[in-house]
Amino acid sequence: MPQDSKPPAWQAAETRDWIAYYDRVAGGEPRETLKLALGKFDDEREPGRSRPGPLAIDLGCGDGRDTAELIRRNWRVLAIDDHPEGLRRLRERSDADIKAALADGRLEIREQSFVQVELPACDLLNASFALPFCPPEQFAALWVKIVRAIEPAGRFAGQLFGDRDSWSIIEDRTHHTRDQAIALFDDFILERFNEEERDGEDAMSNHKHWHVFHVVARKRS
Ligand SMILES: C[S@@+](CC[C@H](N)C(=O)[O-])C[C@H]1O[C@@H](n2cnc3c(N)ncnc32)[C@H](O)[C@@H]1O
Repeated sequence: MPQDSKPPAWQAAETRDWIAYYDRVAGGEPRETLKLALGKFDDEREPGRSRPGPLAIDLGCGDGRDTAELIRRNWRVLAIDDHPEGLRRLRERSDADIKAALADGRLEIREQSFVQVELPACDLLNASFALPFCPPEQFAALWVKIVRAIEPAGRFAGQLFGDRDSWSIIEDRTHHTRDQAIALFDDFILERFNEEERDGEDAMSNHKHWHVFHVVARKRS
């Protein structure tokens, strides 16, 4: 990698300036992987029978662009992140009725890290651009919890970062080769596995070589 494209040390997940990140991405649309997964659930719904209260976990929810979409689409949501400012911004969102959802129990917000997180059984585990920030030595245990939490015929939606991504040299990040990423989904049918690789910029306008796997997967029943 050229010297000038080396990621600055502050980008390590532990010390990353997440508040500056939330400022930059404020107002962003829900992620495509989430929308695809929700469309798949809609396609499976029997006509005239709306399934009451499916539960989604939005892991690493940040300021809640995906949580807001889930609430708008009548899901129950457990939104988890370890950054209090992201969660504060989620509570203040005006693009979904977050306050009503909190009041009637449709939305629960938990400030928890990937290490300590406890994941109840869920229909959808959504983790948009979040899992690569789990330290590598803790990823396997987190993945076991994720797979266990997703009910049969439930789904995972989210991103993993590839081994050729610029950030793979940052020591507290988790990156996967394509084969390693696919192997994580042994218990699933892959409905979307898009490998994106391109030069571009990160949210803070730093040069970045992106190598990302965009995944929607249905757990075998
Ligand atoms: C790139 S943001 C993505 C936020 C949101 N999912 C989205 O798509 O916009 C990654 C999020 O992961 C959270 N995160 C990073 N490391 C974490 C950890 N160890 N435990 C819990 N959350 C973490 C950050 O606080 C941040 O909100």
